[in-house]
Amino acid sequence: MAEDTVKQGIVGTLAKEGLMVSPYCLDLIIERKVDVAELAKDAKKAGVWMITDEFLRGFIKLDTELSKAAKELAGVEQAEKAVEVVSTRKILAKEVESRLVIDDATDVTDKSTCDGTIENFVEYFNQRYRTIRDILRERPECRTAMTVEAAKKHPGEKLRVICMVTEKRESKKGYRFLEVEDPTGSLTGLITKEKEEVVRLYTRLLADEVICLEGTFRDNLFLVDSITQPDIPYNSQPRKADEEVYAAFLSDVHVGSYLFMEREFYRFIEWLNGKGPETEIAGKVKYVLIAGDLVDGIGVYPSQEKELTIPDIYKQYDFFAKLLEDIPSYIEIVLGMGNHDAVRGAEPQPRLDREIGGALYDLPNVHVVGNPVYLSMHGVRTLMYHGTSLDTIIGNLSDCSYGAPEKAMMQYLIRRNLVPSYGGDKKSGDMIAPESKDYLAIKEVPDIFHCGHVHTNGYATYKGVKIINSGTWQAKTKYQEQLGHQPTPCRVPVINLQNHEVSIQYFKND
Ligand SMILES: [Fe+2]
Repeated sequence: MAEDTVKQGIVGTLAKEGLMVSPYCLDLIIERKVDVAELAKDAKKAGVWMITDEFLRGFIKLDTELSKAAKELAGVEQAEKAVEVVSTRKILAKEVESRLVIDDATDVTDKSTCDGTIENFVEYFNQRYRTIRDILRERPECRTAMTVEAAKKHPGEKLRVICMVTEKRESKKGYRFLEVEDPTGSLTGLITKEKEEVVRLYTRLLADEVICLEGTFRDNLFLVDSITQPDIPYNSQPRKADEEVYAAFLSDVHVGSYLFMEREFYRFIEWLNGKGPETEIAGKVKYVLIAGDLVDGIGVYPSQEKELTIPDIYKQYDFFAKLLEDIPSYIEIVLGMGNHDAVRGAEPQPRLDREIGGALYDLPNVHVVGNPVYLSMHGVRTLMYHGTSLDTIIGNLSDCSYGAPEKAMMQYLIRRNLVPSYGGDKKSGDMIAPESKDYLAIKEVPDIFHCGHVHTNGYATYKGVKIINSGTWQAKTKYQEQLGHQPTPCRVPVINLQNHEVSIQYFKND
């Protein structure tokens, strides 16, 4: 029988009895050929809701031999040896006081004003236009840009307009047209093939992005000579910590999925506790940031229930909280939201309700935040965003791919927006909640920019900004296999906040 079917059968049997199981225990049940009906009976008698490692070990009455095998499976034996080695180590992060500041003004939680009316959307897009227009006007060449209506009164003169892209189309003869608008009116731009740089930029434009066009009005057409995107200025002096503390970047844990790599995730937690290689770095980790998809969720895609070991959203967060409990309490943990979390799908997303994620709120060193959010760690300004709109960027720009998410993340900075294209139907763009404040605009240039979503690690420096995509803790899904994606699970980018050097810590055996 296929392994998936066996797993589904066990999960189904346990679920009927109101019991959940973690992926690690599921593997152990299969490996040890555990009698699932008897296990369920015992668990119900003991009054537990989750088959934990501890409960399972008790049930199968591990003798010395089994105990050794199970320990090897969990990597516990190796860790136990490490405990002796590190017991005298100095833990810098424990001695250093936390300097975590979450910038609440950049988090939509408890501040949502919209109810999705047409008026909300009109005001939102006007605001988006104004925000990027003001950023563009900081560039000397765009300072004198006119409105569309004003520009139409100067035919034949070379001038600039700041506008939002509404449509791109090409004629059979190879002419490229660009439909744009601003609050005063609209115009049709014409891009001729002789202007190679303009053509190159034209092919990269996304609907709804705000740009500056230079050109001349002639016969109701605007002949485009140049296209300017807002972009960021060079961050020549990124803020640095005055102590050698580190931050670890994670995302896409997907607790509840039977593909969640629980054993490896626990190995990461043990590493933070000083067990395993490079414990010197582990002892300096003061901050752990997790950029969303904390759990796999329920009903996120068709037939998802067949791929869950914990088919209950409350229990998924409870189990996640149980795992986080073992992270040393001197480490600050910041949890963002993603498209699998139990919050609204449209961005910006508020943080998880206390009613659903209560166990997380009970942990004193855990901070649950909305998506996106700015925060500071020892003075280093960091923008954390899940990255759901990376699908749109990668789908539309030929030089962006799932294998190199850091390149796609640069496109956010170039456009100064985290959701460059709106698509109410999600076919051509992303879902936006039209808030009266634009939480999706990148108004401030961060020192570190952290995303997840694509399940692949990547990092780069763009104009002085450290870009990090933090990969995943979920093994390759069937969907990713169909698309040919190569996730890089269990790799944690870690940054030294004093010098911004990035290293990757590996928690998967191969
Ligand atoms: Fe994910």
